[in-house]
Amino acid sequence: MLSILKFAGPAVLVGKAAAASPVARQITRIDPGDCPTTTEVSYTWETKPCTDSYFSPWTYPTNNWANAPTVNITLDGVEVVATVDTGSTGLVASISLFPHNNFTRQDPTSIFYSSSHWLEEGYEEWIDMTFGPFYMRTQAIIKNREVCCPGYNSTTDEPRCPSAKLARNCECSGGCTSTSTSHNHHKRATRPAPPPPVAYMGIGFGRGAPQIDNAFLDTVTFNGQAIPPSSQSYCPGYVITTDGIHLGLTSANTQNFTFVTLHQTSVDGQRDWSTATMQYQIDNSTQQNGTVLVDTGISQSYFQSMPPWRANSTVYLSVPGDVDTYTIRYEVDETGKGWNPMQPTRFGGSPTLGFINTGRHFLNCFDVMYDPVGGNYGYRYLGDTRAANCSSYVSQG
Ligand SMILES: *[C@@H]1O[C@H](CO)[C@@H](O)[C@H](O)[C@H]1NC(C)=O
Ligand SMILES: *[C@@H]1O[C@H](CO)[C@@H](O)[C@H](O)[C@H]1NC(C)=O
Ligand SMILES: *[C@@H]1O[C@H](CO)[C@@H](O)[C@H](O)[C@H]1NC(C)=O
Ligand SMILES: *[C@@H]1O[C@H](CO)[C@@H](O)[C@H](O)[C@H]1NC(C)=O
Ligand SMILES: *[C@@H]1O[C@H](CO)[C@@H](O)[C@H](O)[C@H]1NC(C)=O
Ligand SMILES: *[C@@H]1O[C@H](CO)[C@@H](O)[C@H](O)[C@H]1NC(C)=O
Ligand SMILES: *[C@@H]1O[C@H](CO)[C@@H](O)[C@H](O)[C@H]1NC(C)=O
Ligand SMILES: *[C@@H]1O[C@H](CO)[C@@H](O)[C@H](O)[C@H]1NC(C)=O
Repeated sequence: MLSILKFAGPAVLVGKAAAASPVARQITRIDPGDCPTTTEVSYTWETKPCTDSYFSPWTYPTNNWANAPTVNITLDGVEVVATVDTGSTGLVASISLFPHNNFTRQDPTSIFYSSSHWLEEGYEEWIDMTFGPFYMRTQAIIKNREVCCPGYNSTTDEPRCPSAKLARNCECSGGCTSTSTSHNHHKRATRPAPPPPVAYMGIGFGRGAPQIDNAFLDTVTFNGQAIPPSSQSYCPGYVITTDGIHLGLTSANTQNFTFVTLHQTSVDGQRDWSTATMQYQIDNSTQQNGTVLVDTGISQSYFQSMPPWRANSTVYLSVPGDVDTYTIRYEVDETGKGWNPMQPTRFGGSPTLGFINTGRHFLNCFDVMYDPVGGNYGYRYLGDTRAANCSSYVSQG
């Protein structure tokens, strides 16, 4: 499994826009009449029944979110176990998964993980994908090479690592803290073995790539039936639970969520939503505004605050909702580790003030959901039902 180390910086996608595509990409529907509206208890879709939905359990147990979640999909007819990452947007798959591939290799592209300095080089390809009863036609990065490219600049460099910037290996030491000077040691050792083939499915928003790069939003059919833009039965979006993921929002799977409205934004003229807002407080200083990412891709946390958090700080994270606000207490002190089910494996810094990437342990106490049409992000507090001691760290008000 590809281990991708990230902090606040969005994974930078390069060379996405230029592709002359044989098939018009499904654009996520933005007709305002199509948008669900939030109510006191759950979504109502006015006249829409919103019934088409599929629940997939995680292929492997996450073991209380120690591990990243995975789902079964098919890509180009090949059964693949894909890592589900809410901290990036876009599908990346190793070319070796497709021995019988017939890719065009006409559109070089790459994806750069700014904290770990790995540059995934490949080609943009249109690909058929299935997820349960859903069929998608989506663009993916078919990765044929992974290189360590510490000085890579997505603005000025081509999608390939300039030879002068190639390093032998990117290896984290000292726990991969956030600054580029301290967390990467470009050791002269080469990798002991080539990385195993992977499929990495970024389904996040506000990560620097447009919403349509999210394969889950490129749905074409459900149970063989076309999904027209005006579909009354399919409401795009997903719900992430401790056991698996629902694709397709319904009134049942969105029950008991409280929502925060996302701000609409654009990436190169294409629609996206900004990272969800939150409030935070360090010890007993005043409350500040910030943004929060619940990132299934990592177990650690990255955070920059005002005033700066320290080794023994208490951090209060308040996630707002239309019904409830939840305030989550983190003790940065390592001794808190044993009790808080949401405690990240470690805290690192972030280059963005007021941004916290909670890491995936957050999901021991909350389910989350994303409505990409109306622009809503939801939290469903689980109390102590899935993990002990959530109620010691979460207050509701
Ligand atoms: C995923 O695929 C494996 C291997 O084919 C299968 O055993 C498992 O039941 C599948 N899981 C789901 C949720 O479809
Ligand atoms: C490869 O793609 C071309 C163009 O789409 C098609 O004509 C050809 O039949 C394909 N070959 C295979 C082996 O799928
Ligand atoms: C990339 O290059 C541009 C133009 O020279 C520069 O403004 C930018 O700061 C560079 N980015 C990084 C991450 O070095
Ligand atoms: C919603 O909350 C009610 C009342 O606490 C509970 O009975 C029900 O199981 C919850 N539903 C879900 C899907 O969590
Ligand atoms: C909280 O504020 C009080 C007085 O304003 C101060 O003495 C104390 O050190 C502060 N506690 C922390 C943990 O910052
Ligand atoms: C946080 O944002 C709200 C709403 O935009 C604003 O009223 C408030 O002043 C902000 N608080 C701080 C501490 O900046
Ligand atoms: C954190 O608290 C522990 C125990 O109270 C103390 O030993 C340690 O020096 C503190 N660390 C810092 C950086 O304040
Ligand atoms: C819950 O936290 C308390 C300390 O506050 C601890 O004694 C207890 O063992 C914890 N329970 C679990 C299951 O971690």
